[in-house]
Amino acid sequence: METDRRSNPLFGPNRFKLGVFSANCDGGLTMSLAPERWRAEWDDIAAMTRIADEAGLEFILPVAKWRGYQGKANIYGRSFETLTHGAALGALTKRIAIFCTVHTPLVTPAFAAKAIATVDHVTHGRAGLNIVCGWNQEEFDLHGVTIDQERRYDHGLEWFRVWSRMLQGGPEFDWDGEFFKLRRVHTNPVSVQRPWPAVMSAGFSPKGRDFAAQAADVLFTNMTELDQAPAMLSSLAAHMARHGRRVSVFTMAHVVCRPTRAEAEAFYHYFAEEMADEEGQDYYRRTRGVTVKDAEGREIGRPFETRFTRATGKRFAGAYPGAYPLVGTPDDIAAEMARMSEAGLAGTSVAFLDYLKEIPYFVQEVLPRLERLGLRRPVA
Ligand SMILES: Cc1cc2nc3c(=O)[nH]c(=O)nc-3n(C[C@H](O)[C@H](O)[C@H](O)COP(=O)(O)O)c2cc1C
Repeated sequence: METDRRSNPLFGPNRFKLGVFSANCDGGLTMSLAPERWRAEWDDIAAMTRIADEAGLEFILPVAKWRGYQGKANIYGRSFETLTHGAALGALTKRIAIFCTVHTPLVTPAFAAKAIATVDHVTHGRAGLNIVCGWNQEEFDLHGVTIDQERRYDHGLEWFRVWSRMLQGGPEFDWDGEFFKLRRVHTNPVSVQRPWPAVMSAGFSPKGRDFAAQAADVLFTNMTELDQAPAMLSSLAAHMARHGRRVSVFTMAHVVCRPTRAEAEAFYHYFAEEMADEEGQDYYRRTRGVTVKDAEGREIGRPFETRFTRATGKRFAGAYPGAYPLVGTPDDIAAEMARMSEAGLAGTSVAFLDYLKEIPYFVQEVLPRLERLGLRRPVA
């Protein structure tokens, strides 16, 4: 199979990859009522993305959302659709990978193949697909679509097989699968990246890991402490061995970076504790739960617990469930990223209470430290 994805920085040389997550949604990655929180205004998203692009971060990753988490802040209540968001950001940027997040029960593989090929041409080979098989029925009700909780990853896998085959090109084909019966399938143009653009999937359950091992280049997963990494990685390794593929693992972090630890902790305390949107947290816990169980019903992880900082051990309600807090000085954050890399993670996404205001300091102070630690190279 022809392979060429050199145009996509996701496959570039940096040992620890970085991207920006969830800036297409208001609230970003917080459940906070703090008035400084992210409002997802388009001009702010565009300005922040340009900074990330120029700094050499690897990717922009938006969230696919159709309904907010209610509560007083109703975070995610306002969000931009990710394929159109991706095409627009693609035209504004020069080097960063632009991911689009697609709910496989809502979008046909042929629609997504054409849309991702469009973004891949706009960006000259920097498009990416984040596959999400769905979990929140309340969101899907506005589409009139029912999530089959048992089979969602089986459906997603067949979806991926059609999508990826279309982007490889070749003669038209008919598809007689369990979930899709399709005639004379083709797409034109095919993607610039060969055989198809970079694929991420976000999942935690055993089925989610098995899906990633078959379809994705990167598994995005929740981790709230690094001591969870060995069990997670060895379980993924078993899935990878079964399918004879390699997948790297990223996690998602929330960054509060300040010149002193006290300032960083105080700001985190302010937005994630004093200004926590408890009702939004309750909604999330009710619809999502905090634990994930294996096929035998044994708890295998608590990936969606609210987080606390390592320094204080305190529990904060307003940080997004499952986000890894990186709270401290530029030295603290670079050192923690080095530990994440040593633990076997290939990268992380970052989010900020106010992305546009906070990313310049992160770029200016943390990136050079990561370069000195040998985790990243200076931007060309
Ligand atoms: C980084 C990351 C991004 C995610 N993005 C979305 C998203 O955009 N839309 C969505 O409905 N779910 C999203 N999810 C939820 C996942 O699709 C998935 O349901 C969740 O991680 C639980 O894993 P499981 O489905 O294997 O239990 C995301 C999860 C993570 C970790």
